[in-house]
Formats: sequence, C-alpha cells, structure tokens
Amino acid sequence: MDIKKGYIFPKPFWSSLIDVNIRGLQEECYEIRNNVPSKYKSNLGQNSYHSPNLLNLQNPPEILKLMKQITNCIQTIHQQSRRENVRLVDFWININGKGGSNVPHTHPGAKYSGVFYIKVPKEMKRGNLFFLRDYNETYLTSQENMGFFKQGYNLLPYDLPKIPVKPLEKLLIVFPSWSPHSVELNDTDEERISLSFNYILFR
Ligand SMILES: [Fe+2]
Repeated sequence: MDIKKGYIFPKPFWSSLIDVNIRGLQEECYEIRNNVPSKYKSNLGQNSYHSPNLLNLQNPPEILKLMKQITNCIQTIHQQSRRENVRLVDFWININGKGGSNVPHTHPGAKYSGVFYIKVPKEMKRGNLFFLRDYNETYLTSQENMGFFKQGYNLLPYDLPKIPVKPLEKLLIVFPSWSPHSVELNDTDEERISLSFNYILFR
C-alpha cells in the first residue's frame, strides 16, 4: 500500500549570524546595567537583570548598529511573502547570572520577536531557548495520549513537546510573536547576555 505523509501548519523560525563588535556590545550592556534599573518581567533567578524598553533611551553605538541590522533582517523576512513594513516597538537586554531563566511566554501585540546572543558562557550545558507547543497540544501529542514510541524510533520535530535552540554569540533568532518559548536555566557561574525585541507592522 502506498501511504503518503503530509504536514499541516508547520511553524517558521529564522536564524542568522550577524557580524558585530561583540566585545563592544558586551561592554555596552554592562554599562546599561550600571545605569538603568532592572525591571521584572519573565526572568527567574536572583542574579538576573532585565532592562526596561531601551527604544526611547539614548543608546550606545554598537547597540544602535545592531538594531539597524536586525530591522533589515526582519524587513527582509516579512517581505519574502508579505507587503507591509516592519517597525521596532521595543527592545531590552537580559543578563542572566547563575540560576537565571525565563518562564514560558509569548509577546502579545507584536508580530515578530526574537533574541540576539551577546554573551554565551563557554561551559554552558543548558541555557537553550525552547520553542514550546501550547498547553493543549502538549497534552494532546503526549505519549500518554497518542501512544508510546517504539524502541529505536528516531523522534521527529513533530513528535516533540518542545524544540531547543542552542545559543551562540552573534546568533540572531527570529520567530512569530505568538509562538510560546522559554529560556532554560543558566547552569554556569558566567553571565549570559541576550537582547530581545518586538516588531509590529505598518502599512
Ligand atoms: Fe520572549
């Protein structure tokens, strides 16, 4: 019997390595931490810094350059299939110390969100970005509900409740803002620095 398999509703994400002055960016982030009070949002861990929206503050040169490159990238992504322009509405930096993580969340109101890695600890075994199924799908696709995998079967992306992305300095990850995601615990003594952002559309 000839059985064909198709896919319904696959979900995109995009990645790109961006050529930046990574040391300069790291210094600028520490400078921001020293001068701008932390704001609680989705971070866990006592050693975590979450800046407020930096869009309307006076930003240092490497961060300004980076945001221009990210905007170009997201404009390109959007215009591969659609007509509008994209506009940056907020961006912020996270400095996660040991034990720092981000609980599952989405970015309501935005269209494209993402993260750029400015500093990644060398010894880090965990600390992945996870793309998650929503609550219902996690149960409905579980082994308890859909049956147990045979021994030796290689799991495919659609078999999983979450998909990890390993952080890497200079790596940009972009995803639809409605896509649930979380950040795994930083299990090293070194700090991890990332910059996150939201874009909307304008016609
Ligand atoms: Fe997020």
